[in-house]
Amino acid sequence: MSDLQFKRHRRLRRTESMRSLVRETKLHKEDLIYPIFIVEGENIKHSVKSMPGVYQVSLDHLSAEMKELENLGIRSVIVFGVPKEKDDVGSEAYHASGIVQKAIRHIKEAHPSLTVVADTCLCQYTDHGHCGIVLDGDIANDDSLELLTKTAVSQAEAGADIIAPSNMMDGFVAAIRRGLDESGYGHIPVMSYAVKYASAFYGPFRDAAHSSPQFGDRRAYQMDPANRIEAIREAESDVGEGADFLIVKPALSYLDIMREVKDRFNLPLVAYNVSGEYSMIKAAAANGWVNEEEIVMEKLTSMKRAGADLIITYFAKDAANYLDQ
Ligand code: PBG
Repeated sequence: MSDLQFKRHRRLRRTESMRSLVRETKLHKEDLIYPIFIVEGENIKHSVKSMPGVYQVSLDHLSAEMKELENLGIRSVIVFGVPKEKDDVGSEAYHASGIVQKAIRHIKEAHPSLTVVADTCLCQYTDHGHCGIVLDGDIANDDSLELLTKTAVSQAEAGADIIAPSNMMDGFVAAIRRGLDESGYGHIPVMSYAVKYASAFYGPFRDAAHSSPQFGDRRAYQMDPANRIEAIREAESDVGEGADFLIVKPALSYLDIMREVKDRFNLPLVAYNVSGEYSMIKAAAANGWVNEEEIVMEKLTSMKRAGADLIITYFAKDAANYLDQ
């Protein structure tokens, strides 16, 4: 034995305090952004069937929800409106008293120190469920940009701190940046869903947001999961157009993409830990097949290790509780 040459890596793993001393990646509560679904009506707290622990809430429940988040130490939310009325141009998305605009006002009035991110898309608001408007059976890029810009400006007017366009139209960052600047919102940053794949992991979200496409799918505007170089092109465009944050979505099957984007672009990187990624863990944990706390912390840590600075996650409350223990 004595003449064997090898390194003793286990020296640094002997005790928990030793391990925490050399831990390279740490998750903080400040990294977490919690998604909220707001519906019209009163006294509604409706559990989303495919997402245990996630609710659609009406405006009157928002305050309690925000208090809970503040008590847990979570300081950022991303809001998704679920309107009652839909039409072919998604008018409720940019209505001054649309559901999401009302929600943003409500949150900022009662909890001004929370950072409110507004998701900017049309799919919850259009009767066809696509992220832009439909002309001749196609999702019309440039016509959609006008409506998306109106949506972003109305969200900023309502008090949103960050605009997060998720629609995947070409030029959406340029259009929204210009719209915000021209309306006096030059100080409001754009968190771009720069790299968004056409993913089966969005299934449960579409239950929560009532946003399934009523014909076809989103493959003509969201990215092909097989593509890596294209992700760099997408991120490059958005950086050039003035994005302040970059999102990679989904997270877990795309950690390689996250690392590349982080290494190439000097902007805060956001991982979107999407609905399907949440529901799969919840289902396995409910069956007693995995240890939920350990799995959740391992997954969130892996996103940070891959380069994410921030994580949008339905696990934010759970993670904050685990971090407190
Ligand atoms: C809307 C949007 C989607 C998500 C966030 N914004 C879904 C989609 O493209 O259908 C997905 C979020 C999730 O699955 O958690 N454009």
